[in-house]
Amino acid sequence: MTGKTLVAFATKGGATEEAALEIAEVLRKHKLEVDTVNLRKEKDTDISGYENLVVGSGVRIGRIYNEYHKFLENDFGKKKLALFIVCGEAGDPKDHDKVLEKHMKTTLGNHAHLKPVEFEVFGGRMKVLWKVVSDGRDPAKVRAWADKVSKKFGSKK
Ligand SMILES: Cc1cc2nc3c(=O)[nH]c(=O)nc-3n(C[C@H](O)[C@H](O)[C@H](O)COP(=O)(O)O)c2cc1C
Repeated sequence: MTGKTLVAFATKGGATEEAALEIAEVLRKHKLEVDTVNLRKEKDTDISGYENLVVGSGVRIGRIYNEYHKFLENDFGKKKLALFIVCGEAGDPKDHDKVLEKHMKTTLGNHAHLKPVEFEVFGGRMKVLWKVVSDGRDPAKVRAWADKVSKKFGSKK
């Protein structure tokens, strides 16, 4: 068993939380010990007890949520870090590479000290007045990515 893993997420509409909980479940199946935290509710998360971190955020009006950027200011030292973004644009597979590059560039442009072992973008779900107007979620893709992340985090399973 490797050290503990934290899956931290920033969500406004709930899609990033769903992806984060799905990722946490997959990592647990790989025998990793996993905690989750909602960064919009818990503002002072202590990462000292964690060896691996997954950090995810939604996007609105072209911006990744502030809590994601704030959390990434932490000193991760030798901890392994995997990042994901949930957004409307990533819901269309033909735009995947372009959207991945954009969000990766923004993240690493703001946090040059980071060396994530994985970075991915997933389609989100957009509601207007509580009504779903678009849904690009793909839980199978989220689970497949979490499998990949578990290997990077040292799971032998
Ligand atoms: C007001 C609003 C603005 C949005 N702006 C963008 C955007 O600029 N780019 C994008 O890719 N998706 C955009 N979206 C879609 C969100 O990224 C999508 O709803 C995603 O699921 C957000 O994550 P969350 O549900 O965890 O908050 C927007 C959604 C809303 C409701």
